[in-house]
Amino acid sequence: MFNNDTINKFQSIETPFYYYDMGILRQTLEACTNASARYGFHVHYAMKANFNPKVLDMIQSFGIGADCVSGNEVKAAIEHGFAKEKVVFAGVGKSDKEINLALDADIFCFNVESVQELFIINDLAAAKNKKANVAIRINPNVDAHTHHFITTGLDENKFGINIWQLPDVADALRKCTNLQFLGIHFHIGSQITDMEVYKSLCTRINEMQDWFEDHGFPVKVLNTGGGLGVDYYNPDTNAFSDFESYFNVFKDFLNVRPGQEVHFELGRALVAQSASLISRVLYVKNGLKKNFLVLDAGMTELLRPMLYQAYHSIENLSQKSKVESQNLTQDIKYDVVGPICESTDCFRKDVDLPESFRGDLIAIRTAGAYAEVMASGYNLRNRAQSVYSE
Ligand code: LLP
Repeated sequence: MFNNDTINKFQSIETPFYYYDMGILRQTLEACTNASARYGFHVHYAMKANFNPKVLDMIQSFGIGADCVSGNEVKAAIEHGFAKEKVVFAGVGKSDKEINLALDADIFCFNVESVQELFIINDLAAAKNKKANVAIRINPNVDAHTHHFITTGLDENKFGINIWQLPDVADALRKCTNLQFLGIHFHIGSQITDMEVYKSLCTRINEMQDWFEDHGFPVKVLNTGGGLGVDYYNPDTNAFSDFESYFNVFKDFLNVRPGQEVHFELGRALVAQSASLISRVLYVKNGLKKNFLVLDAGMTELLRPMLYQAYHSIENLSQKSKVESQNLTQDIKYDVVGPICESTDCFRKDVDLPESFRGDLIAIRTAGAYAEVMASGYNLRNRAQSVYSE
C-alpha cells in the first residue's frame, strides 16, 4: 500500500487523514464479483461500513446493489447511481419518514424486523396506493463466534423476528394486502472468519425456507446477510478475503430452488483493507513503566479499538525504509495513544515499533470499514480529510 513515493507525498498533507488505495478497492471488488457471478449470486454492499462518496461510486460501478439502514442511506444510494431495484432497506427501527422515503423511491425490498413493522409498512404503502416488497428478517439463533458486541443473530439480540413468532408473521402477511412477501433475510454478525458458522446458518435458512413454503409462502429471495471477516493482522499478504470459499459454502449447503435469487450483504469484506488512517507522532513520552506514542489521531477518527477491543496493525511509515534497508528490529514497545481526554483513547498497548520520533508518520491499517463512518466531533475535533491514491 505504501511505497516511498506515497510516503513522500504524505509529508505535505495535514494529518490525520484517511488514505484510500483505490487499486486495492478495485481488486477486492473484482475478486468478489467474479466469485459471486460464478453461481449467479447477488451482492448488496452494506453501506454502513463506509459511505465515502468515491468508495460508493466505485462499488456502484461494479453493478453491486446497496443494503441501507437509514433513510439517508437509501437517499445516498440512489444519488450515487445504485439501481433502485437493487436497494434494500433493513434496520430494527425504521421511522415512518424513512419508510415513506423508501416507498417513494420504489426500492426493491424492506427487510422487516418485527410483526408490528409489517403492519406499519402496510399502512404507509396503502396510503400511497402502493404494494411494498418485504423480506422477513429472522433471528436464527446461530452463534457467529465473533466479538459479542458485533453478534446479531442470537435470541438475546434485538435484531430480527424470533422463530417462535413466525405464525404471527404468517397471519400478518395474510392480512396485509399492501405487502408482497419476497423472501427471508438473515444476518448473524460481523467479522466472521470461521466458515463452519456459515454452514450452520445455511442449515437454519433451509429449515426456515421449508417453514414458509409449508405455510403457503413461496420464497423468491434468500438473503444470507453479510459478516465475512478480513485479516486485520496481515493487511498486505491478505489484501482481500477468500470470497471463493465463502460463496462455495452457500453453493454447497443452501437449498436453492430453481429461479430463486440468493442475496448477500457484504460490508467490511469489500472495503476494510482499502484504507488506512494516517497520523503523526506528536509526542514521545518515555515513562518508568511505559513508553507512549501520542498521535494526532484518536478515538474520534477510529473508534473500533476502544469500542470492541479491535486489533489494527500499526506501522511507522517514516522509519519503514530505515528498518528495511538496515534490517533493524522493531524493539521498542509503545502504547500508541490519541490526544482525546479519555483513558480508553488507546489504539493498542505494547506495540513493537522501531524507535519513533516526533513528526513520524504512523499508519493504522485496515481502516476502510466502520472507521471514517464512525468518526465523531468529540472534543470539538475537526473531521479528518480523505485522500485517494488516484
Ligand atoms: N447486513 C446487516 C443487516 C447488518 O447489520 C450488517 C452489519 C451487514 C449486513 C454488514 O456486515 P459486514 O459484512 O460488514 O460484517 N461497527 C462494527 C460492525 C457492525 C456491523 C453491523 N451490521 C465493527 O466495527 O466491527
